[in-house]
Amino acid sequence: MSTLPTGHPTPPSLDGGRIPVAVLGATGAVGQAFVRLLTDHPWFDLVELAASERSAGRPYGESARWLEGTLPGQIANTTVLPCDTASVRSPLVFSALDSSVAGELERAFAQGGRIVVTNASNHRMDHDVPIVIPEVNADHLSSLDTQRRARGWQGAIVTNGNCASIVIAMALAPLHEAFGVRRVFATTLQAVSGAGYPGVPSLDILGNVIPHIGGGEEEKIEREVAKMLGIARDGELSPADFGVSAQVNRVPVEHGHTACLSVEFDRRPTVDEAMHAMTGWRSRIADLALPSAPSEPLAILTDDARPPQPRRDAMRGNGMTVTVGRIRPDPLLHLRMVACGHNIIRGAAGTAILNAELLVARGLVPPWGTRAA
Ligand SMILES: NC(=O)c1ccc[n+]([C@@H]2O[C@H](COP(=O)([O-])OP(=O)(O)OC[C@H]3O[C@@H](n4cnc5c(N)ncnc54)[C@H](OP(=O)(O)O)[C@@H]3O)[C@@H](O)[C@H]2O)c1
Repeated sequence: MSTLPTGHPTPPSLDGGRIPVAVLGATGAVGQAFVRLLTDHPWFDLVELAASERSAGRPYGESARWLEGTLPGQIANTTVLPCDTASVRSPLVFSALDSSVAGELERAFAQGGRIVVTNASNHRMDHDVPIVIPEVNADHLSSLDTQRRARGWQGAIVTNGNCASIVIAMALAPLHEAFGVRRVFATTLQAVSGAGYPGVPSLDILGNVIPHIGGGEEEKIEREVAKMLGIARDGELSPADFGVSAQVNRVPVEHGHTACLSVEFDRRPTVDEAMHAMTGWRSRIADLALPSAPSEPLAILTDDARPPQPRRDAMRGNGMTVTVGRIRPDPLLHLRMVACGHNIIRGAAGTAILNAELLVARGLVPPWGTRAA
């Protein structure tokens, strides 16, 4: 077992060594982001990479078409494993699997005692599975007890939201806490990397806008945002009582989803009150100093002439900060605003890793010296 690099606050449950982790779906767009973010992670030791039969048995550097930067040499030579519980032995498993296979595979890993932290949508709306953004709803992890009891497994499944849902939920969280959201109209402009690799054909998207994204993207946003901003009581999750209407667009942007929001509240705030609530909002994990937590989860731009935009803002906070701006009155509802965040980092791999760090900090990852069943 590797030892911990110095200089990072480490929770007692780390017991002097990094936790061996695996990435399922390691060859795809999100899988590659996991590999980048987990290389040299202070708490996690990336020891296993798994993907489909097409990739299994081959060196990662051959089976993954590496999309950004330089692939670390030792990772390139790692042999890709098949995605089954006999081959992948790590106690903590990150899933970037295609949703056509994620549901069953993730259940099998949780059944086998593993902690599964996933980006796939399959289990997000299960009543006993939380969709976690640590800064917003860390308390939703209390549903894991209910999940384990109901399913009779020692492992667990923790999801993060759809890449656009996370950006919207983070922008709304302080406002919902302060004024109670009642209705939201959300129009998104979503980057091509949100479709994975190879994703949308270039001749379809270059110089174009496609007002449709498959896989039930609009319904995901409409359901997930209310679940993330809902409450956890006695291990039961209840969605927030507001409605969302979403219209999604694929746009020729590489990374970074933008959402234009019109919002009605239980108590109508002025623009100043809304800004005050957002700038004064405190992350639920501010005291934990988790390695992947940005110092500023939300950045609020006050200059209307400098709106949030993916090229300038997606990488804010190493891709973990959501930027909100153009907060102004809405002539039909109460306020409107624009939010922007990195779909692959905050919207996928980065939040998943932060979720795993929270699980470790809360002592919810079992001792890993003894391998899972
Ligand atoms: N892209 C985003 O911004 C984003 C954001 C949030 C959530 N997500 C979700 O994250 C997941 C991954 O997305 P992505 O964009 O990275 O997709 P992707 O680029 O298409 O990658 C899919 C991955 O799944 C693997 N896979 C496919 N069929 C498999 C099978 N039968 N058995 C085992 N592995 C299999 C692929 O392996 P091979 O290379 O071997 O085929 C690949 O590693 C999806 O569920 C997606 O909805 C994506």
